Amino acid sequence: MEKKRFYITTPIYYPSGNPHIGHAYCTTMCDIFARYKRMKHNEVFFLTGTDEHGQKIENNALKEGKTPKEFIDEKVAIFKKLWEALEISNDDYISTTQDRHIGVVQKVFSEMLKNGDIYLGSYKGWYCEACEAFWTDTQAGENHICPDCGREVKQAEEEAYFFKTQKYLDKVLSYFDTNAIYPESRKNEMLNTFIKPGLADLCVSRTSFSWGVPILENPKHVAYVWFDALFNYLSALGYKSSNDERFKKYWQDENTQIIHVVGSEITRFHTIYWPEFLSALNLRMPDKVFVHGLIMMKDGKMSKSRGNVVSPYPLIERYGVDALRFYYAKEMIWGNEGTFTPEQFVDRINVDLVNNYGNLVSRSVSMIVKYCDGIIPNCKPLTNVNDIELDNAIRNVVDEFDSLMSDMHITEAYNALFNMLDKANKYIEVSAPWTLYKEGNMDQINIIMNNLAYAIYVSSMLLKPILVHKADEALTSLGVDSSKQDFDLLKNKEILNGLTVSKGNVLFPRLDVAKEVEYIASLMK
Ligand code: ME8
Ligand code: MG
Repeated sequence: MEKKRFYITTPIYYPSGNPHIGHAYCTTMCDIFARYKRMKHNEVFFLTGTDEHGQKIENNALKEGKTPKEFIDEKVAIFKKLWEALEISNDDYISTTQDRHIGVVQKVFSEMLKNGDIYLGSYKGWYCEACEAFWTDTQAGENHICPDCGREVKQAEEEAYFFKTQKYLDKVLSYFDTNAIYPESRKNEMLNTFIKPGLADLCVSRTSFSWGVPILENPKHVAYVWFDALFNYLSALGYKSSNDERFKKYWQDENTQIIHVVGSEITRFHTIYWPEFLSALNLRMPDKVFVHGLIMMKDGKMSKSRGNVVSPYPLIERYGVDALRFYYAKEMIWGNEGTFTPEQFVDRINVDLVNNYGNLVSRSVSMIVKYCDGIIPNCKPLTNVNDIELDNAIRNVVDEFDSLMSDMHITEAYNALFNMLDKANKYIEVSAPWTLYKEGNMDQINIIMNNLAYAIYVSSMLLKPILVHKADEALTSLGVDSSKQDFDLLKNKEILNGLTVSKGNVLFPRLDVAKEVEYIASLMK
């Protein structure tokens, strides 16, 4: 049976710089999923936060003449403001500098040390400062390059605590067999890149910097940033605290589906080390680790040095929060890598929102006003093949959308919805209500208007998780009040009978392609 309660997490972001459209992507997609599940009356706990320790943050603060705490407070405020602007519906916000988190890291470290999962040793390896990751000879290769970021790595040695990765490897391998990792290709990548070459013990402490969680047993050590960060998923739930109701409900209870969503570059930490840590603590595994692809620019990764970093703010300001949320969900195939281009951004607005959805809403509402005095006609049994086809397409998309969404195939689900919208627009052309009106065929007009109202109702409801403003505007203009905005009613066409429609404002104004492409291109710096 499908689980009815959901714990949904984003990665906790490094506030070492300003958030860009990549950070906003992952959080927005999780938000769309969380909103959808809530709409289906599922209980949801949706978490995001920031990963506030580590050498990079210490260094960046120093460069700006600030303490790490001053530095992160400023940056974290920018992240939080962004989530507000994007209307992210997270239920909590975890910061790794919060006491509730620090306490958990210290407790799990002590427990693992006591149980012999962690030991004190000395570390020698290829260290990438930017990624704060050690690499083996094979991984660093002949050129001594970080396999993640491509920067040069250097030999480093320090006293450090290690986690025994071999001890729980069988647990990881059986976890891999449960199909929790999506897409499947990521699992094979993990096996071939990290597990088959031999997984080294993981270094879980550092002595080279101090901005981290102090290890109680040996205070010159701070917890390695990943040993620290991963536990956010537990500390946010009150794990190992006197107030652990949430932990019991959202982690221990098997009826909760635990879903971590992460970018592809951090798959290794979430599919190998995290399951190992959980095994060491005798905790159950997440039901799903959904790995999404990164948003690339035409000239490669977004990076300050390439000067191609795009901030989400100007996009939200100029096109509205709904437009950016929609672009993410519909243009990027969730799970695949995608490229951000101004042309595609403008296309999603003009092609999908203006010409397709917006057009259907405004034309249909205008016709209901003109032909039916603004009252949605009652639904009647259908006999005409065109009418039946659209009615079926609408009903079918409710199921298809739901089954795709339940596996978090967000883009595919919305593609299915837009195929239905295409059909609805074509249906207007084919049925030509204006001709029927001239002929005085009101029976057929009523059937068509009822069908169109149904298409708008279903599509607006399914778009609500993305279009946090415009879907409600469309529903309001259709006369659907909040009591009828219920996912369980989507197959009940008759609830629309007799509602009074009203022409609203234009939902999505058409963009001037050349002008907007130029504007967006000017943001890439
Ligand atoms: O890795 N396209 O934090 P981070 C799409 N603190 N998504 C992107 C992206 C891009 N170009 N760039 C970043 C960390 N992201 C750790 C995580 S979790 C316990 C600790 C998104 O600030 C993507 O989801 O580098 C990626 O995994 C996440 O931001 C990493 O953010
Ligand atoms: Mg990163």
